[in-house]
Amino acid sequence: KIPVIIDTDPGHDDAIALMLAISSDILDIRGITVSAGNSTLDNTTGNALRILTHLSSSVKVYKGAERPILSVLKPSKSIHGENGLAGTSLPEPKGMAELRNAVQFLEDEVKHSVEKIKIIALGPLTNIATFILSSPELRHRISEIFMMGGAVFGGNRTPAAEFNVWQDPEAAHIVFESGIPIVMCGLDVTRKCGMLEKDMERIRKSKGKACVLATEIIDFFGNATGNSEVIFHDAVAVARVLRPELFRASNYNVVIDLDGRYTRGCTVTDTIGISGGRINAEVVMDADREGVSAFIAESLLKLDGE
Ligand code: BDR
Ligand code: CA
Repeated sequence: KIPVIIDTDPGHDDAIALMLAISSDILDIRGITVSAGNSTLDNTTGNALRILTHLSSSVKVYKGAERPILSVLKPSKSIHGENGLAGTSLPEPKGMAELRNAVQFLEDEVKHSVEKIKIIALGPLTNIATFILSSPELRHRISEIFMMGGAVFGGNRTPAAEFNVWQDPEAAHIVFESGIPIVMCGLDVTRKCGMLEKDMERIRKSKGKACVLATEIIDFFGNATGNSEVIFHDAVAVARVLRPELFRASNYNVVIDLDGRYTRGCTVTDTIGISGGRINAEVVMDADREGVSAFIAESLLKLDGE
């Protein structure tokens, strides 16, 4: 099994992504670290715990950053609602977050794991950047960071920046400079992976726990984003971890714009090799949409035992 730590800020598409990860037989989820992002840290932590309670999962949750390194936190209320998971009817959480915080957990787990750890990052990169700064000697113990964020072309929070990188550009800068191999699963590919109607129908028809939650998410989030399609960005990144053969990527140098007047948080990607910068990211550009959509639906049905 692949040992992974998932860093997240649930979030509707984070919830789908977590369900995909939990449904997989090939992941060994060592823990879930949470940051503020789509909502406040208290809300995103509570949401992670509620999702796990709903699915009867015993994976532990570690609370991390309350705000970006330099920016002021600007939650995504118009898309994820006041509490980060509006429109869902999740139960109250059974447990609480662990006493160790996210960075302490990352340090302990990365240090003591026999195999190198993969990080799947689905929110602003604040926790990961803080870990990199506090334990630089452990960097080589991370095999890869798979992140949902950024875009070669365009943005969704501003014309130039994607939400997760825009929320904490300094953190993204630290991660992209770290030397740890990065797979950037950004808007270029997630926007090509809208859910197909037939797969959403399969989800709607099932009365299992995972599919009921996913249906509530489709109904709320699908409308809130204003896209004509339902796009589960974070779930696409997890699909890339689980089914890489469905995706196509290219290796580029990526730097984060930290002080552009209009472009702060842009993942500036050197697709023509002109900057002389080191290749630091595998950038996922394309996918088999039908395959990804079907895989997401099948993973949710599998979680429900169907
Ligand atoms: C990303 O931003 C968040 O709102 C989503 O959860 C996802 O991680 C998409 O840009
Ligand atoms: Ca997210």
